[in-house]
Amino acid sequence: MAERGVALELAGVSAGYGETVVIENVDLTLSAGDTLSIVGRNGVGKTTLLATLMGHTTLHAGRILLDGIDIARWSVHRRVRHGLGFVPQEREIFSSLTVRENLAVAARPGHWTLASVFDLFPRLAERQAGRGDELSGGEQQMLAIGRALVGNPGVLLMDEPSEGLAPVIVEELVRAVRRLAATQGLTMILVEQNARLALALAPRTIVMDRGRIVHDGESAVLRDDPATLERLFGVAGR
Ligand SMILES: Nc1ncnc2c1ncn2[C@@H]1O[C@H](COP(=O)(O)OP(=O)(O)O)[C@@H](O)[C@H]1O
Ligand SMILES: [Mg+2]
Repeated sequence: MAERGVALELAGVSAGYGETVVIENVDLTLSAGDTLSIVGRNGVGKTTLLATLMGHTTLHAGRILLDGIDIARWSVHRRVRHGLGFVPQEREIFSSLTVRENLAVAARPGHWTLASVFDLFPRLAERQAGRGDELSGGEQQMLAIGRALVGNPGVLLMDEPSEGLAPVIVEELVRAVRRLAATQGLTMILVEQNARLALALAPRTIVMDRGRIVHDGESAVLRDDPATLERLFGVAGR
């Protein structure tokens, strides 16, 4: 099998908000097509790491390579055009636009279209004429993911997609994320508070603590080692 290229590489990345450094000396490499979960307690810098990839923070040091090109000083817009997709923790959909309009404004040519998003999330297809502010939390989350997908990213970042959702909706999201993980060439980073879900959805999981990566390894190993999970994360098997 041909060796897969490196999709994303962080080297010595320190970043934060203004003078404040939140993430420190982060090294991380993902091959094209990889799915990675990030777990860690509240406030350890998971969102800040994703925000740094998108260009929403102050970079203090380090390199961020997307397909081998250093994007660390690029604008957010340019990163999106170059293939970074982001599903923010707050979802941030347009409340006065319909589902269809929310998708249409983000669409760029490629594999993912409104039709393929509606195929992934049949619930959104049913609600396509509904306004953003009429949607349930689960539907808003599906729309946030769909909106990132129609931008046809090579690297998709998702920040706590299951947060605050009912178990039955989480099941629907899990099915979708599994389909995405199996999509040829799509590289994914999934920040997830639910450790059980995080370990089940990605073959590799990193644990963050106080702005640093404190563990990086196979999810299966961590799954079978609740003591280490408890020590690193404080909520074994949750
Ligand atoms: N916009 C911001 N301005 C200043 N500090 C922030 C901002 N967002 C987050 N922080 C701080 O950065 C740290 C990490 O937060 P965050 O990345 O949101 O953690 P997590 O996603 O792991 O819960 C926290 O101490 C938080 O208070
Ligand atoms: Mg967060």
